[in-house]
Amino acid sequence: MSKLKWWQTAVFYQIYPRSFADGNGDGIGDFKGITGKLDYLSDLGIDALWLSPHFPSPNWDCGYDISDYENVAPEYGTLEDFKIFLAEAHKRNIRVILDLVLNHTSDEHPWFLESKSSRDNPKADWYVWADTPPNNWQSCFDGDAWTYAPERDQYYYHYFMKQQPDLNWHNPLVKNAMWDAARFWLDLGVDGYRLDAIGTIYEDPHLTPHTVPMNLAELRRFSELARTSAEIKLKEKYWHDMFKNQWGQPGVHDLMKELRAILDEYEGDRMLVGEDDNIAFHGNGNDELQLVFNFPLMRTERLTPSHIRRNQKERLTQLEVLPVTGWACNTLGNHDSSRVYTRFGDKQHDAALARLHAALILTLKGTPFLYNGEEIGMTDYMLTDITHVKDTMGSWYYHAVVTDMGVHPDEAMQRTAEMTRDKNRTPLQWSNNPNGGFAPPDVKTWLPVNPNHKNGINVRDQQNNPSSLLNYYKHILRVRKNTPALIEGEYVPLNNTAKDYLSFLRTSVGQTVLIVLNFSEKQQMLDFSRTKELKDHSLRVLFSSAVRSGADLTPKKLNIAAFEVFVAEVK
Ligand code: GLC
Repeated sequence: MSKLKWWQTAVFYQIYPRSFADGNGDGIGDFKGITGKLDYLSDLGIDALWLSPHFPSPNWDCGYDISDYENVAPEYGTLEDFKIFLAEAHKRNIRVILDLVLNHTSDEHPWFLESKSSRDNPKADWYVWADTPPNNWQSCFDGDAWTYAPERDQYYYHYFMKQQPDLNWHNPLVKNAMWDAARFWLDLGVDGYRLDAIGTIYEDPHLTPHTVPMNLAELRRFSELARTSAEIKLKEKYWHDMFKNQWGQPGVHDLMKELRAILDEYEGDRMLVGEDDNIAFHGNGNDELQLVFNFPLMRTERLTPSHIRRNQKERLTQLEVLPVTGWACNTLGNHDSSRVYTRFGDKQHDAALARLHAALILTLKGTPFLYNGEEIGMTDYMLTDITHVKDTMGSWYYHAVVTDMGVHPDEAMQRTAEMTRDKNRTPLQWSNNPNGGFAPPDVKTWLPVNPNHKNGINVRDQQNNPSSLLNYYKHILRVRKNTPALIEGEYVPLNNTAKDYLSFLRTSVGQTVLIVLNFSEKQQMLDFSRTKELKDHSLRVLFSSAVRSGADLTPKKLNIAAFEVFVAEVK
């Protein structure tokens, strides 16, 4: 495996700094807190961290509205605290990548304050300005994409909230300033970046209007009420048509090549992973991003074997046709999406399904990204009070539908709780103490702690329970680390039509591993004796979620228990 790069062998873990660990007892996560949990992370068996933004921010979009790219938000600590965190992580062989938000800054960033101050200041065209709104474009978070600035008597463009003005990337000075910011953290030793919303960096130069007969709030409401397949199809078409002129425009690949060249100036294989699923961001396989998330895998209601097989076939084939084969990157959850446990559960077998999903992400070909709290089965937490909502896109939506559409506040609140990303950003549950051990008991945490921390969904209880989800994650992460084929092996699908279970091989020079994931409550009696890689061989179990004797098994009569995760080496 020595020829693989660190980001190909690593398991990544996303930390949402505001919610991970509170080191100073103010109800907000911080670097002291994160540093204090590095041993936990190391013991869990992860190799790299992606930190959501930790920069100073007015927090209209929970840190994705940055007002200073070269500093640490005071509530998270100081630059010195960051340096200590980074050194301590590296000491434990844990790499660290940061979030780089290129498309927009905060409207409180000095660049924007200067840009909006007059039409002829030196930064006048660092953002996208127009005398009148040139079209009907929408912001994907809060309605109109053009907002009036009285100082210039002009409108500025924002794909996200009005507090997140889009930078004008056609201006080389913008590029230089942002590349300086990127270098700032690379100079400090960070191992790379997760690139935020790269698809939105450029807009259609002709500013072509969208053709959807409604605005954003109406489209959201229309989507919620869509029931028939015709309505669902139309809803998807509308979402696509509403934003198609505002993302995926030419120019971004040259930009990514420039950024990659900067990273390549540094020692130590600094890397980029893009928040986009378009494999075009791999460039020729060696000149843009090393990793691009396989979001289509998680873009489904249910993770069924046939969906997974279809996705793997499509994705791995796409990666192979690049001039230099691209490396896959799989994830099932992040700070923008419903928690894996809730989203892909069925409310009956959630615990078993969570184990299958963890096994899936850790045995498929490609670099896995986990989201903090996934390892203890944290669930979505539905807020019931609009004053608790911190995700501005949620509160904007609530007020839009209550005021403009007359939706009853109770119903609006329920919809808001479901759509807001607050539900999957609540503080990490470290123990069954009040506030889940995240913050001192008498402190008001920035978002409420999910009360289910009292029912075993917390780190400490699970550490003490050998059959907990946490110990399951630790075990399977260890097996992955010790099994080269699970990291470097090719993916070979078996049983291409089985509805209930997924079976595939990972094959590397010198090792073949069989993985069977039984997604059903039915036991499966499988016969792999005609599979060429398995016939005349026996199977040595490396990992199973069922109770098994240590004896080798024959591929001819393989009995797989209900919901079993079965991983075995072919002998
Ligand atoms: C990305 C982030 C999301 C943020 C948005 C705007 O999609 O993941 O959290 O709101 O970009 O920066």
